[in-house]
Amino acid sequence: MITHEHSSGVGGSLSPKSLYVRTRITTEVYAQLAREGIRLTLPPDLWSTTIDQLLQICLRENPRTSPKTLQAALERARATAFDTKYAEYTYHHDSRGKDPLWQHAAFDALRRVGWEDVRDPRLLVVGVGNGLEAQGLYGDVRRLTIVDIAPLSLAMARARLPHATATQDPAENLTSVHSNSQDFYLALRVFQSALLNPLRAIHEARRVLTPGGAIVLSISSAFVDCDGRVVLGHVAPRSCSVDASRPVHHAHSIQRLLLRCGFSDADVAETRSDIYVTARNIER
Ligand SMILES: C[S@@+](CC[C@H](N)C(=O)[O-])C[C@H]1O[C@@H](n2cnc3c(N)ncnc32)[C@H](O)[C@@H]1O
Repeated sequence: MITHEHSSGVGGSLSPKSLYVRTRITTEVYAQLAREGIRLTLPPDLWSTTIDQLLQICLRENPRTSPKTLQAALERARATAFDTKYAEYTYHHDSRGKDPLWQHAAFDALRRVGWEDVRDPRLLVVGVGNGLEAQGLYGDVRRLTIVDIAPLSLAMARARLPHATATQDPAENLTSVHSNSQDFYLALRVFQSALLNPLRAIHEARRVLTPGGAIVLSISSAFVDCDGRVVLGHVAPRSCSVDASRPVHHAHSIQRLLLRCGFSDADVAETRSDIYVTARNIER
């Protein structure tokens, strides 16, 4: 049974030794750019900073470097940062590791948007990480495309899912995925990622989905600390403290974005380990 540190919804904190505190994506990006001689002042609000905002800051602070060079350096640094944090990721400190039924919850989300109505579905998985999530969930889906920005993680996912088409693309710009080509878009614990631009990513999701296709996104709702305690929430930038109300707020902001971008039937469902946001790509 999961014992939650703060099931009342009050924020807690994680050990400074926790992976989620020790390895911060924006700090890694900053350090990598500094090693390349690129200046970057991180903005105060890192919760919602996107890669596009960092690029604007880089352009302003490095006027002698070409925009193309800066963009490439930033994207490389982001990809490396995610590999550093997640290439070897297991569910040891992940709330899914404490919930043997988490895949059932993910299937329920897929079912709500018509998974069982489509024969031989084309499934696009964005932010696949090292592919661990596929086991017992979508590992046997025949027409499978997997995407991630992080090359090492993607190589590991490829080894786990050799039948899948794998491409290294950002969610904001799925250059290798054709328009109207996918029945389902699945991204587990990706739309909470540091630097992701959710608006651009959702527009891309809409582009690649068939009319009638559907999107399923999960937002994690808890961490497992070094001592095995489950701490509800998302860890705040530059600190060990965990904001218990953040996952639900974030899920609802993604739901609103989906509706703004033309998706319909957008829904939010809380499960033991994650919050699922689902929607359909149906013109009204
Ligand atoms: C928290 S990990 C989740 C991995 C896996 N989906 C899971 O649930 O275990 C986030 C993953 O999303 C990827 N990612 C982060 N931002 C991304 C973006 N903008 N486009 C594509 N992938 C991204 C990272 O490289 C990482 O593999």
